[in-house]
Amino acid sequence: MKGDPRHLGFATRAIHSGQPPDPRTGAVAVPIYQTSTYVQKGLGEPAEFEYARVQNPTRTALEENMASLESGVSGHAFASGMAAISGLMTLLKAGDHAVVSRNVYGGTYRYFTRLLEPYNLSFSWVDTSDLAAVEAAITPQTRMVYVETPTNPVMDIADIAAIAGIAHQRGAWVAVDNTFLSPYLQRPLELGADFVLHSTTKFLNGHSDSIGGVLVSKHKEQGEWFAFVQKSEGAVLSPFDSFLILRGIKTLPVRMDRHEQNARQIVGFLLRHPKVRKVLYPGLPEHPGHEIQKRQASGFDSMISIEMGSYASAKALLDRMRVMSFAESLGGVESLISHPASMTHASVPAEQRARLGLTDGLVRISVGIENVEDLLTDLDQALAAV
Ligand SMILES: Cc1ncc(COP(=O)(O)O)c(C=O)c1O
Repeated sequence: MKGDPRHLGFATRAIHSGQPPDPRTGAVAVPIYQTSTYVQKGLGEPAEFEYARVQNPTRTALEENMASLESGVSGHAFASGMAAISGLMTLLKAGDHAVVSRNVYGGTYRYFTRLLEPYNLSFSWVDTSDLAAVEAAITPQTRMVYVETPTNPVMDIADIAAIAGIAHQRGAWVAVDNTFLSPYLQRPLELGADFVLHSTTKFLNGHSDSIGGVLVSKHKEQGEWFAFVQKSEGAVLSPFDSFLILRGIKTLPVRMDRHEQNARQIVGFLLRHPKVRKVLYPGLPEHPGHEIQKRQASGFDSMISIEMGSYASAKALLDRMRVMSFAESLGGVESLISHPASMTHASVPAEQRARLGLTDGLVRISVGIENVEDLLTDLDQALAAV
Protein backbone atom coordinates (compact mmCIF):
# COMPACT_ATOMS: atom_id res chain seq x y z
CA MET A 1 0.00 0.00 0.00
CA LYS A 2 0.98 3.67 -0.35
CA GLY A 3 0.92 6.06 2.59
CA ASP A 4 0.68 5.70 6.34
CA PRO A 5 -1.70 2.98 7.60
CA ARG A 6 -1.81 4.50 11.14
CA HIS A 7 -5.49 5.49 10.99
CA LEU A 8 -6.76 2.42 9.16
CA GLY A 9 -8.55 -0.62 10.62
CA PHE A 10 -6.91 -3.35 12.71
CA ALA A 11 -6.73 -6.00 9.96
CA THR A 12 -5.25 -3.48 7.51
CA ARG A 13 -2.63 -2.41 10.05
CA ALA A 14 -1.87 -6.05 10.88
CA ILE A 15 -0.83 -6.46 7.24
CA HIS A 16 0.76 -3.08 6.53
CA SER A 17 2.00 -1.30 9.68
CA GLY A 18 5.78 -1.15 9.79
CA GLN A 19 5.94 -2.80 6.37
CA PRO A 20 6.03 -0.28 3.52
CA PRO A 21 7.15 -1.86 0.21
CA ASP A 22 10.93 -2.37 0.07
CA PRO A 23 12.28 0.94 -1.36
CA ARG A 24 14.79 -0.78 -3.67
CA THR A 25 12.77 -3.66 -5.13
CA GLY A 26 9.14 -2.99 -4.19
CA ALA A 27 9.01 -6.39 -2.38
CA VAL A 28 5.68 -6.58 -0.52
CA ALA A 29 7.14 -8.82 2.21
CA VAL A 30 9.79 -7.34 4.50
CA PRO A 31 13.11 -9.04 3.62
CA ILE A 32 15.03 -11.05 6.21
CA TYR A 33 18.07 -8.86 6.83
CA GLN A 34 20.40 -11.68 7.81
CA THR A 35 23.40 -9.55 8.68
CA SER A 36 25.32 -8.87 11.87
CA THR A 37 26.64 -5.44 10.89
CA TYR A 38 26.24 -2.60 8.38
CA VAL A 39 28.85 -0.65 6.44
CA GLN A 40 28.85 2.92 7.69
CA LYS A 41 29.30 6.05 5.59
CA GLY A 42 32.32 7.41 7.38
CA LEU A 43 33.86 8.32 10.70
CA GLY A 44 31.72 10.74 12.66
CA GLU A 45 28.67 10.16 10.42
CA PRO A 46 26.01 8.41 12.54
CA ALA A 47 23.91 5.85 10.67
CA GLU A 48 20.44 4.44 11.39
CA PHE A 49 21.81 0.88 11.34
CA GLU A 50 25.18 0.13 12.90
CA TYR A 51 25.13 -3.31 14.58
CA ALA A 52 22.39 -5.91 14.47
CA ARG A 53 22.01 -6.49 18.22
CA VAL A 54 20.93 -2.84 18.37
CA GLN A 55 18.98 -2.45 15.12
CA ASN A 56 17.77 -4.81 12.43
CA PRO A 57 15.24 -3.71 9.78
CA THR A 58 13.21 -6.96 9.93
CA ARG A 59 12.95 -6.64 13.71
CA THR A 60 12.12 -2.93 13.43
CA ALA A 61 9.24 -3.77 11.08
CA LEU A 62 7.78 -6.17 13.68
CA GLU A 63 8.34 -3.67 16.49
CA GLU A 64 6.54 -0.89 14.59
CA ASN A 65 3.76 -3.27 13.63
CA MET A 66 3.19 -4.31 17.26
CA ALA A 67 3.37 -0.72 18.55
CA SER A 68 0.59 0.11 16.10
CA LEU A 69 -1.60 -2.91 16.96
CA GLU A 70 -1.25 -2.37 20.72
CA SER A 71 -1.64 1.46 20.49
CA GLY A 72 1.77 2.10 22.06
CA VAL A 73 4.60 4.49 21.25
CA SER A 74 7.22 1.79 20.72
CA GLY A 75 7.64 -1.97 20.47
CA HIS A 76 10.69 -4.04 21.42
CA ALA A 77 11.13 -7.62 20.25
CA PHE A 78 12.96 -10.14 22.40
CA ALA A 79 14.23 -13.68 21.95
CA SER A 80 11.29 -15.15 23.90
CA GLY A 81 8.27 -14.11 25.93
CA MET A 82 10.38 -14.64 29.07
CA ALA A 83 13.09 -12.32 27.69
CA ALA A 84 10.41 -9.65 27.11
CA ILE A 85 9.24 -10.08 30.73
CA SER A 86 12.86 -9.84 31.86
CA GLY A 87 13.24 -6.61 29.85
CA LEU A 88 10.13 -5.21 31.53
CA MET A 89 11.32 -6.09 35.02
CA THR A 90 14.51 -4.03 34.60
CA LEU A 91 12.23 -1.08 35.44
CA LEU A 92 12.31 -2.35 39.04
CA LYS A 93 15.34 -1.79 41.25
CA ALA A 94 16.48 -3.47 44.48
CA GLY A 95 13.94 -2.80 47.24
CA ASP A 96 10.99 -2.42 44.85
CA HIS A 97 7.80 -4.44 45.16
CA ALA A 98 5.29 -5.68 42.58
CA VAL A 99 1.72 -6.94 42.93
CA VAL A 100 1.25 -9.91 40.59
CA SER A 101 -1.74 -11.99 39.45
CA ARG A 102 -1.52 -15.11 41.61
CA ASN A 103 -2.07 -17.42 38.67
CA VAL A 104 0.49 -16.21 36.11
CA TYR A 105 2.26 -18.50 33.65
CA GLY A 106 4.47 -20.88 35.66
CA GLY A 107 7.65 -19.62 34.01
CA THR A 108 6.85 -16.07 35.11
CA TYR A 109 6.33 -17.30 38.68
CA ARG A 110 9.67 -19.15 38.52
CA TYR A 111 11.47 -16.09 37.11
CA PHE A 112 10.11 -13.72 39.75
CA THR A 113 10.65 -16.03 42.73
CA ARG A 114 13.89 -17.80 41.80
CA LEU A 115 15.78 -15.17 39.83
CA LEU A 116 14.48 -11.77 40.94
CA GLU A 117 13.76 -12.23 44.66
CA PRO A 118 17.47 -12.87 45.37
CA TYR A 119 18.11 -9.41 43.87
CA ASN A 120 15.91 -7.92 46.60
CA LEU A 121 12.73 -7.44 44.59
CA SER A 122 9.57 -8.60 46.34
CA PHE A 123 6.24 -9.83 45.01
CA SER A 124 2.73 -10.20 46.39
CA TRP A 125 0.65 -12.90 44.70
CA VAL A 126 -2.89 -11.60 44.52
CA ASP A 127 -6.22 -12.55 43.00
CA THR A 128 -6.31 -9.63 40.55
CA SER A 129 -10.00 -10.26 39.84
CA ASP A 130 -10.51 -8.86 43.38
CA LEU A 131 -9.93 -5.09 43.23
CA ALA A 132 -9.94 -4.70 47.02
CA ALA A 133 -7.18 -7.32 47.26
CA VAL A 134 -5.12 -5.45 44.65
CA GLU A 135 -5.53 -2.18 46.52
CA ALA A 136 -4.69 -3.79 49.88
CA ALA A 137 -1.50 -5.34 48.51
CA ILE A 138 -0.02 -2.04 47.28
CA THR A 139 2.66 -0.65 49.60
CA PRO A 140 4.84 2.49 49.39
CA GLN A 141 7.48 0.26 47.71
CA THR A 142 5.09 -0.97 44.98
CA ARG A 143 6.29 0.10 41.55
CA MET A 144 4.23 -2.23 39.37
CA VAL A 145 1.01 -4.21 39.20
CA TYR A 146 1.63 -7.13 36.83
CA VAL A 147 -1.51 -8.69 35.42
CA GLU A 148 -2.44 -11.65 33.28
CA THR A 149 -6.06 -11.72 32.13
CA PRO A 150 -7.42 -14.28 31.51
CA THR A 151 -5.03 -16.12 33.81
CA ASN A 152 -3.40 -19.30 32.68
CA PRO A 153 -4.99 -21.85 33.11
CA VAL A 154 -7.75 -21.07 35.67
CA MET A 155 -9.15 -18.15 33.61
CA ASP A 156 -9.53 -15.45 36.26
CA ILE A 157 -10.41 -12.10 34.69
CA ALA A 158 -8.97 -8.80 35.92
CA ASP A 159 -10.56 -5.41 35.25
CA ILE A 160 -7.62 -3.62 33.59
CA ALA A 161 -9.10 -0.09 33.66
CA ALA A 162 -10.03 -0.35 37.34
CA ILE A 163 -6.60 -1.73 38.27
CA ALA A 164 -4.90 1.06 36.30
CA GLY A 165 -6.98 3.59 38.25
CA ILE A 166 -5.95 2.09 41.60
CA ALA A 167 -2.28 1.58 40.69
CA HIS A 168 -1.77 5.02 39.17
CA GLN A 169 -3.26 6.71 42.20
CA ARG A 170 -0.60 4.94 44.28
CA GLY A 171 2.26 5.72 41.88
CA ALA A 172 2.62 2.21 40.39
CA TRP A 173 2.76 1.14 36.74
CA VAL A 174 0.46 -1.48 35.26
CA ALA A 175 1.88 -4.16 32.94
CA VAL A 176 -0.34 -6.72 31.22
CA ASP A 177 0.69 -10.04 29.71
CA ASN A 178 -1.75 -10.07 26.76
CA THR A 179 -0.56 -13.38 25.29
CA PHE A 180 -3.88 -15.18 25.72
CA LEU A 181 -6.03 -12.68 23.82
CA SER A 182 -3.70 -10.84 21.42
CA PRO A 183 -4.29 -7.19 20.48
CA TYR A 184 -7.03 -8.30 18.09
CA LEU A 185 -9.26 -9.04 21.09
CA GLN A 186 -7.85 -6.86 23.89
CA ARG A 187 -5.67 -3.73 23.94
CA PRO A 188 -4.58 -3.05 27.53
CA LEU A 189 -2.84 0.27 26.78
CA GLU A 190 -6.18 1.69 25.56
CA LEU A 191 -7.67 0.59 28.89
CA GLY A 192 -5.07 2.47 30.94
CA ALA A 193 -2.13 0.04 31.29
CA ASP A 194 1.40 1.36 30.81
CA PHE A 195 3.07 -1.68 29.27
CA VAL A 196 1.84 -4.73 27.42
CA LEU A 197 3.82 -7.82 26.57
CA HIS A 198 3.39 -11.00 24.62
CA SER A 199 4.89 -14.36 24.16
CA THR A 200 4.70 -14.06 20.34
CA THR A 201 5.30 -17.81 20.39
CA LYS A 202 1.53 -18.15 20.81
CA PHE A 203 -1.34 -16.49 18.86
CA LEU A 204 0.73 -13.70 17.25
CA ASN A 205 3.00 -16.06 15.34
CA GLY A 206 0.25 -18.63 15.38
CA HIS A 207 2.03 -21.50 13.65
CA SER A 208 4.06 -23.08 16.50
CA ASP A 209 7.33 -22.58 14.64
CA SER A 210 9.03 -19.69 16.46
CA ILE A 211 9.87 -18.54 20.00
CA GLY A 212 9.70 -14.81 20.64
CA GLY A 213 8.43 -11.97 22.79
CA VAL A 214 7.36 -8.34 22.37
CA LEU A 215 7.12 -5.52 24.88
CA VAL A 216 5.10 -2.41 23.95
CA SER A 217 5.32 0.82 25.92
CA LYS A 218 2.84 3.65 26.20
CA HIS A 219 5.57 6.01 27.42
CA LYS A 220 8.46 7.34 25.36
CA GLU A 221 10.98 7.41 28.21
CA GLN A 222 10.44 3.78 29.23
CA GLY A 223 10.35 2.76 25.53
CA GLU A 224 13.82 4.26 25.15
CA TRP A 225 14.90 2.34 28.24
CA PHE A 226 13.67 -0.94 26.67
CA ALA A 227 15.76 -0.20 23.54
CA PHE A 228 18.74 0.33 25.86
CA VAL A 229 17.95 -3.00 27.56
CA GLN A 230 17.90 -4.76 24.17
CA LYS A 231 21.29 -3.29 23.35
CA SER A 232 22.78 -3.98 26.79
CA GLU A 233 21.32 -7.42 27.60
CA GLY A 234 21.23 -8.60 24.00
CA ALA A 235 18.29 -11.02 24.21
CA VAL A 236 16.89 -9.71 20.91
CA LEU A 237 14.70 -11.49 18.38
CA SER A 238 16.45 -12.89 15.29
CA PRO A 239 15.64 -11.54 11.81
CA PHE A 240 14.15 -14.88 10.73
CA ASP A 241 11.85 -15.08 13.76
CA SER A 242 10.86 -11.44 13.23
CA PHE A 243 9.91 -12.36 9.65
CA LEU A 244 7.88 -15.39 10.77
CA ILE A 245 5.96 -13.39 13.37
CA LEU A 246 5.23 -10.54 10.93
CA ARG A 247 3.92 -13.16 8.53
CA GLY A 248 1.80 -14.74 11.26
CA ILE A 249 0.30 -11.43 12.36
CA LYS A 250 -1.05 -10.80 8.85
CA THR A 251 -3.66 -13.52 9.40
CA LEU A 252 -4.22 -12.89 13.12
CA PRO A 253 -7.78 -11.51 12.74
CA VAL A 254 -9.05 -14.39 10.59
CA ARG A 255 -7.32 -17.00 12.72
CA MET A 256 -8.68 -15.55 15.97
CA ASP A 257 -12.24 -15.53 14.62
CA ARG A 258 -11.97 -19.17 13.58
CA HIS A 259 -10.26 -20.17 16.85
CA GLU A 260 -13.18 -18.72 18.80
CA GLN A 261 -15.85 -20.22 16.52
CA ASN A 262 -14.35 -23.68 17.05
CA ALA A 263 -13.91 -23.10 20.79
CA ARG A 264 -17.56 -22.18 21.26
CA GLN A 265 -18.72 -25.44 19.69
CA ILE A 266 -16.27 -27.43 21.79
CA VAL A 267 -17.37 -25.67 24.99
CA GLY A 268 -20.99 -26.58 24.18
CA PHE A 269 -20.02 -30.23 23.72
CA LEU A 270 -17.91 -30.36 26.90
CA LEU A 271 -20.66 -28.77 29.00
CA ARG A 272 -23.03 -31.56 28.01
CA HIS A 273 -20.51 -34.38 28.54
CA PRO A 274 -21.06 -36.37 31.78
CA LYS A 275 -17.33 -37.14 32.26
CA VAL A 276 -16.38 -33.46 32.35
CA ARG A 277 -16.88 -32.02 35.86
CA LYS A 278 -16.33 -28.35 35.06
CA VAL A 279 -15.63 -26.16 32.05
CA LEU A 280 -13.65 -22.94 32.58
CA TYR A 281 -14.24 -20.54 29.68
CA PRO A 282 -14.74 -16.78 30.15
CA GLY A 283 -17.15 -16.77 27.19
CA LEU A 284 -19.76 -18.57 29.33
CA PRO A 285 -22.28 -16.11 30.83
CA GLU A 286 -21.97 -17.87 34.22
CA HIS A 287 -18.17 -17.32 34.34
CA PRO A 288 -17.50 -14.77 37.13
CA GLY A 289 -15.37 -12.59 34.83
CA HIS A 290 -17.67 -12.79 31.79
CA GLU A 291 -19.13 -9.28 32.01
CA ILE A 292 -15.73 -7.64 32.55
CA GLN A 293 -14.19 -9.44 29.62
CA LYS A 294 -17.18 -8.58 27.45
CA ARG A 295 -16.58 -4.93 28.29
CA GLN A 296 -12.82 -4.78 27.94
CA ALA A 297 -12.22 -7.24 25.08
CA SER A 298 -13.96 -7.98 21.82
CA GLY A 299 -13.95 -11.76 22.19
CA PHE A 300 -13.08 -14.78 24.30
CA ASP A 301 -10.54 -16.69 22.17
CA SER A 302 -10.00 -20.42 22.28
CA MET A 303 -8.40 -21.37 25.58
CA ILE A 304 -10.53 -23.77 27.59
CA SER A 305 -9.72 -25.58 30.83
CA ILE A 306 -11.69 -28.59 32.00
CA GLU A 307 -11.78 -30.35 35.34
CA MET A 308 -11.68 -34.13 34.91
CA GLY A 309 -11.82 -34.88 38.67
CA SER A 310 -8.52 -36.75 39.06
CA TYR A 311 -5.05 -37.27 37.62
CA ALA A 312 -6.11 -40.72 36.37
CA SER A 313 -9.07 -39.32 34.41
CA ALA A 314 -6.94 -36.52 32.98
CA LYS A 315 -4.33 -39.08 31.92
CA ALA A 316 -6.91 -41.38 30.33
CA LEU A 317 -8.20 -38.47 28.24
CA LEU A 318 -4.77 -37.12 27.27
CA ASP A 319 -3.44 -40.56 26.30
CA ARG A 320 -6.31 -41.15 23.86
CA MET A 321 -6.29 -37.83 21.96
CA ARG A 322 -5.39 -38.23 18.29
CA VAL A 323 -6.08 -35.00 16.37
CA MET A 324 -5.28 -32.74 19.31
CA SER A 325 -1.57 -32.96 20.14
CA PHE A 326 -0.43 -33.52 23.71
CA ALA A 327 2.01 -30.62 24.05
CA GLU A 328 2.89 -27.48 25.98
CA SER A 329 2.17 -24.08 24.42
CA LEU A 330 -0.95 -22.60 22.88
CA GLY A 331 -2.26 -20.31 20.18
CA GLY A 332 -1.12 -22.31 17.15
CA VAL A 333 -3.28 -23.33 14.19
CA GLU A 334 -3.18 -26.89 15.52
CA SER A 335 -5.11 -27.88 18.63
CA LEU A 336 -2.93 -28.60 21.64
CA ILE A 337 -3.99 -30.27 24.86
CA SER A 338 -1.95 -30.25 28.06
CA HIS A 339 -1.81 -30.96 31.78
CA PRO A 340 -0.85 -27.64 33.46
CA ALA A 341 -0.04 -29.09 36.92
CA SER A 342 2.79 -31.23 35.53
CA MET A 343 3.73 -29.14 32.50
CA THR A 344 3.39 -25.33 32.23
CA HIS A 345 2.85 -24.84 35.98
CA ALA A 346 5.09 -27.56 37.44
CA SER A 347 7.30 -24.86 38.99
CA VAL A 348 4.39 -23.53 41.09
CA PRO A 349 4.47 -25.25 44.53
CA ALA A 350 1.75 -27.89 45.04
CA GLU A 351 0.06 -26.00 47.95
CA GLN A 352 -0.21 -22.87 45.83
CA ARG A 353 -1.58 -24.84 42.87
CA ALA A 354 -4.23 -26.29 45.20
CA ARG A 355 -5.21 -22.80 46.42
CA LEU A 356 -5.65 -21.65 42.81
CA GLY A 357 -7.81 -24.61 41.78
CA LEU A 358 -4.97 -25.76 39.51
CA THR A 359 -5.66 -29.40 40.29
CA ASP A 360 -4.14 -32.63 39.01
CA GLY A 361 -7.40 -33.25 37.15
CA LEU A 362 -7.24 -29.98 35.20
CA VAL A 363 -6.69 -30.25 31.44
CA ARG A 364 -6.10 -27.23 29.20
CA ILE A 365 -7.11 -27.10 25.56
CA SER A 366 -5.83 -24.59 23.02
CA VAL A 367 -8.40 -25.02 20.28
CA GLY A 368 -6.91 -24.77 16.80
CA ILE A 369 -8.49 -23.98 13.46
CA GLU A 370 -8.96 -27.51 12.14
CA ASN A 371 -12.41 -28.77 11.08
CA VAL A 372 -14.36 -28.58 14.31
CA GLU A 373 -16.16 -31.88 13.58
CA ASP A 374 -12.80 -33.67 13.70
CA LEU A 375 -11.96 -32.08 17.05
CA LEU A 376 -15.36 -33.02 18.49
CA THR A 377 -15.03 -36.62 17.29
CA ASP A 378 -11.54 -36.77 18.77
CA LEU A 379 -12.72 -35.53 22.18
CA ASP A 380 -15.72 -37.85 22.08
CA GLN A 381 -13.63 -40.98 21.46
CA ALA A 382 -11.04 -40.00 24.08
CA LEU A 383 -13.64 -39.15 26.75
CA ALA A 384 -15.20 -42.57 26.17
CA ALA A 385 -11.98 -44.06 27.62
CA VAL A 386 -12.24 -42.10 30.88
C1 LIG B 1 0.91 -16.24 29.25
C2 LIG B 1 2.35 -16.52 28.93
N1 LIG B 1 3.26 -15.55 29.10
C3 LIG B 1 4.58 -15.74 28.84
C4 LIG B 1 5.04 -16.96 28.39
C5 LIG B 1 6.50 -17.16 28.12
O1 LIG B 1 6.75 -17.08 26.74
P1 LIG B 1 7.92 -17.87 25.98
O2 LIG B 1 7.65 -19.33 26.10
O3 LIG B 1 7.81 -17.35 24.57
O4 LIG B 1 9.20 -17.47 26.63
C6 LIG B 1 4.13 -18.00 28.19
C7 LIG B 1 4.59 -19.32 27.70
O5 LIG B 1 3.88 -20.29 27.72
C8 LIG B 1 2.75 -17.77 28.46
O6 LIG B 1 1.82 -18.73 28.30
